[in-house]
Parts: sequence; structure tokens; C-alpha cells
Amino acid sequence: MNSDSMMGTRVLSFSSGKGGVGKTSLVTNLGALWSKAGKKTLLIDGDWSLGKLGIAMGVRPKWTIEKVLSGEIDLLSAVQEVYPNLYLLASPSGVLGFEELDETSRNQLFFEIEALKNQFHLILFDHSSGVHSGVTPFAAAAHQQIVVTTSEPTSYTDAYAIMKILSQKYSIREFWLMVTMSHSHNESDRIIDRFMDVVRSQLEVKIRLLDIFPWEPRLGEALRRQKPFVEIYPSDQFTQKLSEVCRRLEQSPLTQNHGLRFFYGAESEPRA
Ligand SMILES: Nc1ncnc2c1ncn2[C@@H]1O[C@H](COP(=O)(O)OP(=O)(O)OP(=O)(O)O)[C@@H](O)[C@H]1O
Ligand SMILES: [Mg+2]
Repeated sequence: MNSDSMMGTRVLSFSSGKGGVGKTSLVTNLGALWSKAGKKTLLIDGDWSLGKLGIAMGVRPKWTIEKVLSGEIDLLSAVQEVYPNLYLLASPSGVLGFEELDETSRNQLFFEIEALKNQFHLILFDHSSGVHSGVTPFAAAAHQQIVVTTSEPTSYTDAYAIMKILSQKYSIREFWLMVTMSHSHNESDRIIDRFMDVVRSQLEVKIRLLDIFPWEPRLGEALRRQKPFVEIYPSDQFTQKLSEVCRRLEQSPLTQNHGLRFFYGAESEPRA
């Protein structure tokens, strides 16, 4: 991987609060689409102790961040190419003593990720569920926040919680809301519209609806086959919707107000 000083890097965070809402499926498929479009894309498995991205993509990672944090290898050496232009930084799964990242490990990871500057066009963070310190500081450091939810109250309540923490503790002001697993587009649209009104009235944030994705059982099939859906069904309507999500996210300009600017500060704004 040669460093391209003109590349610039856009960092996107996919969080949810509640688990099992489709973050990993989204990250896998958006990453696959971007890499096919020629964008060098890194997926980071932010489920630090229950990593699943490798499974979703059908690879058995040679290294995980465990080896990085123990100082045995640097972060770039732990990054593995899984498809042309698509790279994975995997997390270990169920390693004893690695259940939670302590502050030193978190800081070390921040510095290591910072060193990847300009190596990738896009970095996608697939967070674990929950609103703990393994999620929020990493989410807050990204340029773009994508909060994933279903239209069920237990799910959007957790989406609200993570936006509240990110806005009040880290001054994040802009969010994209991604709705998944919808059984009725109209009903989800109505519920989410009301939800976004509540968010706007309670938190000082700008929130935009990215899309409402239907319940799609073939995503489970793709997971069982350990391949991105978009690889199996490249011309499907669902794949086209995912491509539209890529386009919308990419076209959204980044401003000084995005994130903590810890990852790649203002001087390395991605260029068009
Ligand atoms: N739109 C959808 N329709 C139907 N099933 C879906 C959809 N999106 C994801 N799934 C399925 O839901 C399950 C959970 O998805 P996924 O692992 O992507 O969620 P997650 O938010 O990453 O979960 P976790 O919080 O545990 O990391 C998987 O079996 C996946 O195939
Ligand atoms: Mg996941």
C-alpha cells in the first residue's frame, strides 16, 4: 500500500446502540460497492472483542488488533486485503482478557489509526452495540455519523441514546439515520418522521434520513455464504439502493464541525 499524500481519507461511523440491526451487513456491502468503484476502502471491526466482520466476508484474518495492541505488529501489517481495493482490520473473537479496551489501548488505537492517514479513500467503522467507551470515542472521531435503527421503539430509543451522548459529550451536530428491516415502508416512514422531530426538538442536532431499507431475507443467506450481498446479486434493486446510499454519503461535504477531528484533521480534507 503506497501512501498517496493527495488521497485524503473520509471516516464513517456506523453505530446503533441496539445490537442486531444490520450494521455489519451494511458496512460489508457499502465497502464492497465502494471498492468496486475504485475507492480504496478499509473496514474496521469495532466489535473489539467479538469481531464478526471477517466471518461476514468469508476470511479468516491472519492478524487482529490484539497483536497490534500487544505491540507485536503495527496496524498496517494487521490490515488484510479481502477483495481488490477492500481491506479489513479484524478484531479478535472471544479472546480471554480482551473483553474491554482500557484507556491505554484506546489511545494506542487512535494513534495507530491516525498513522493510516492518506492510505485509504474511505474508512468504515463497524461498531459493536452499546454506548460504552469502546464505541463512542471512536464514533465521535469520524467525519460522518450513520446511526442505524429499525422502526421499533426498542431500537430507535437506543439510536436516540447514542445521538444524545455523541451530541452532548462530543459536540457532534450532524447525523444520518439509516432505517433497516422495514416491513412496511409507509409505516416506517411515519414512525421515523415523528422520531426525527423528537430528536430535533430535544437535541441540538441536524438529522437526515439516509434511507429506509426493507426486510431482506437474502441478507441472511449472503451471511451464510460469507459473501457480500452485492457480490451475489450485483443487479438487484437492493444493491441499487445501497449504491444510492454510497452516492449520498460521498456527496455530502465535510465541514469543520464534523467529528472530533482526531482522525485526519482539517488539513487533510478529502478532495473530490
Ligand atoms: N434489512 C434486513 N432484513 C433482514 N435481515 C437483515 C437485514 N439486515 C440485516 N439482517 C440480518 O440480521 C442479522 C444481524 O445483522 P448484522 O450482523 O448486520 O447486525 P449488527 O447490527 O451488525 O449486529 P451486532 O450489533 O450484533 O454487531 C443478520 O442475520 C443479518 O443477515
Ligand atoms: Mg455487527
